[in-house]
This record gives sequence, C-alpha cells and structure tokens, in this order.
Amino acid sequence: MSSVTVTDIINKKKSGKKITMLTAYDYPFARIVDEAGIDIILVGDSLGMVVQGLENTLPVTMDEMIYHTKMVSRGAQRAMVIGDMPFLSYQAGTADAVRNAGRFLKEAGASAVKIEGGSEVAEQIKAMTRSDIPVMAHIGLTPQSIHRMGGYKVQGKTEESAERLIEEALIVEDSGAFSLLLEAIPMGLAKKITEKITIPTIGIGAGPHCDGQVLVLHDVIGLFERFVPKFVKRYANIKNDVLEALTRYKAEIEDGAFPSEKESFK
Ligand code: KIV
Repeated sequence: MSSVTVTDIINKKKSGKKITMLTAYDYPFARIVDEAGIDIILVGDSLGMVVQGLENTLPVTMDEMIYHTKMVSRGAQRAMVIGDMPFLSYQAGTADAVRNAGRFLKEAGASAVKIEGGSEVAEQIKAMTRSDIPVMAHIGLTPQSIHRMGGYKVQGKTEESAERLIEEALIVEDSGAFSLLLEAIPMGLAKKITEKITIPTIGIGAGPHCDGQVLVLHDVIGLFERFVPKFVKRYANIKNDVLEALTRYKAEIEDGAFPSEKESFK
C-alpha cells in the first residue's frame, strides 16, 4: 500500500514543493521508480506504444490496464499509483466511467485514476469523485484524440485555443479533479493555468512553471526509440547497455567462455 496520498499531492502545491511523477508498467520498474523517491507512478496507457508496440494508445483495453496496474502496485511501497483510463472506458457515460475507474482501486491497488479531456468529461469526473475515486484530469494534447487533432501537435497556440484551455482547467477543477495534467502546451499558458487554479498541475511538455512534472519512463531511460518528443530529456541509454550485455552473452556462449566452472556444479 502506497504512503503518498492525494492530500500530500495537494499540499505540495500549497507549500511550493515540486511534484515528481513517472510512468511504469511492471513490478521491477515500479520498484526502481519507488526507490528513487518519485511521488506518483502513472500506469499510463502509453504502455500501448512503449510496451505493446502499438501505433497509438487507442487499442489498449481495461483488462490490460488492470493487469499492468496490479504489477506496479506490488512494486510501489511509497509512491502513489494512478491508473490511466483507456480509450472507451469512460467516454460513453458516467456509469461506465465509475465502474471502470472503480476497478483500478478495487482490483489493481491504485489510489486514483487519470482521465483525458476537459468539459466533455466533466460529468464523469463529478460521478467518479462522488464515488470516492480521486481523479487527475488531462488536457492539452490528449493522445486518445489523435484522430481529431490530426497528430501529436502542441495545443493552445492561438489566443482562442489558449482561452479555451484555461476554461477547461477551471471546469475540471470545479468538477472535483484533485490535479490536472497539462500536455504539450506553451509554457506561458501552463504558467497562467497553474496560477489560476488551486489544484496542482503536472506538466509534460508544458514548461517549468507547472507544480510538477511527468515523463514516460521508457523515454527517460532510453528504452523507446521510435520517436523522441522535444520535451523529453533522456537521463540514461538503457537500450545500449542491454544490447552490449546481450552481445557479450552471445559471444561468450559461442566462444565457450560461458558457462565457466564458476557457473557450473561439481
Ligand atoms: O499514458 C501516459 O503515459 C500519459 C503521459 C502523459 C504521461 O498520459
């Protein structure tokens, strides 16, 4: 059971302390993220792309999200675990939203859920919050809207769309969301939103003025290479390390260096 609570996250904004968040999708990485002292682990539907090898996040199912969230919850001792609501798990109405969100808490050990959208999911946010399911909202670039948006594009660049995003932020706050993820929007707009609402903002590609930051783990450690968004900072190149290790393993089997006496029984 995680020890970081929704109240801790809200209090971080009040005390001006930055909130740290990363994705993870399985037990071993959840343990490492937890050990690093990250506040929130998001089991993102980005797993469709970085773990399952899909083109986008749309095919990811609730059952798959539950499967991965269970593994992450087992590895997270301290960090708060948030389950990401996949495409079509909430769009059709409040009953769907509550039932599916509830599964993350009831079956998978999460403490909260994340949902993409603003005013169009306000009723769902209200219904989930009424059912004691804490909700992180997500506006700006929402990857489940890739077909409507025509690709992964920075949002809120015009005055009109920026005003709209400020309104959306106020609406999700009013609907009961305990925090708001801002993806791929200009940093000045993220600053305005962060100052205007009382709940914490978590940015990804939204500049330094948000109350916290999140990135996709596989981007941060260099495990996903298909494309690297501008807002990603890579802190390790795990793919190269693993490739080098496995190349040596293969070579040592082929030239007889492995196994040696040390790895053998007498
Ligand atoms: O699915 C995901 O990983 C996300 C990112 C914005 C962190 O939603």
